[in-house]
Amino acid sequence: MNYYYITGTSRGIGKELAEQLLLNPSNHVIGMSRQKTIEHANYHHFYLDLTSATAIADFKFELHANAKKIVLINNAGALGFIKPIGKLESDTIIKNYTLNLIAPSVLTNSFINCYNTVDAEKVIINISSGAGKNPIDGWAVYCASKAGIDMFSRVVDAEQKVRAEHPQESIHKGFRIFSIAPGVVDTNMQTEIRSAHKEDFSRLEDFIAYKTKNELSSAKSVSQKYITILDDLNQIQHVLSSIKDY
Ligand SMILES: NC(=O)c1ccc[n+]([C@@H]2O[C@H](COP(=O)([O-])OP(=O)(O)OC[C@H]3O[C@@H](n4cnc5c(N)ncnc54)[C@H](OP(=O)(O)O)[C@@H]3O)[C@@H](O)[C@H]2O)c1
Repeated sequence: MNYYYITGTSRGIGKELAEQLLLNPSNHVIGMSRQKTIEHANYHHFYLDLTSATAIADFKFELHANAKKIVLINNAGALGFIKPIGKLESDTIIKNYTLNLIAPSVLTNSFINCYNTVDAEKVIINISSGAGKNPIDGWAVYCASKAGIDMFSRVVDAEQKVRAEHPQESIHKGFRIFSIAPGVVDTNMQTEIRSAHKEDFSRLEDFIAYKTKNELSSAKSVSQKYITILDDLNQIQHVLSSIKDY
């Protein structure tokens, strides 16, 4: 059996990923988000608010006796309010970093800690963003958290490689981690971007044009690509990449 832990399965990319994985009866999906929108015999949901540090810290991964493959997909994310720094509420900044950077970091740590002695294929995919590489005004916290998750992924990858050279190390055995950006995808996140105020976001017209010119990918096609990559990790050359590279 294969076990996929996915954050943000109630809509968008996370929901598509879960639903496509559930087409294979060998796959179990464990979803985490504030709302549940999937009903399936092999789907289990945790109602979790990933802006709550306590809820994230309390989450426990389960041991699965028959696991061939165990995957964590840190997908849940949000832009938060689109406004320049100086105009945000402090609490909004704290919650946005918690959702986009602290939650994936803490969950990755718990995942590696739980499965380090488990003999299965173990993979972590962080859903990153081009916004982690390019500054976009009005998105400072989102850009910084996605840049953070890219560096976090690189460090965890380096840790795995160092430990592979020292097999006497009992912890952190055999995990592969990748931070893969999905491109611009037609989800609720893009609807929110298009509803930003022009005075707070100079790129508003660009994002409206992506939609009117039909330049957005569908969540379905993007999720299919992630699953194809997960089925053959050897095609991934670097820790950081974009779905467009495949
Ligand atoms: N769409 C794009 O163009 C695009 C581009 C680059 C990167 N990305 C990244 O792709 C990932 C998925 O985005 P999407 O476009 O699919 O967004 P979406 O349609 O808005 O879905 C976001 C998902 O995250 C969950 N989520 C949000 N806040 C949460 C919270 N406080 N606690 C738990 N879950 C929460 C939502 O569930 P609940 O509301 O039920 O909690 C929902 O399932 C994100 O990491 C995003 O940064 C998207």
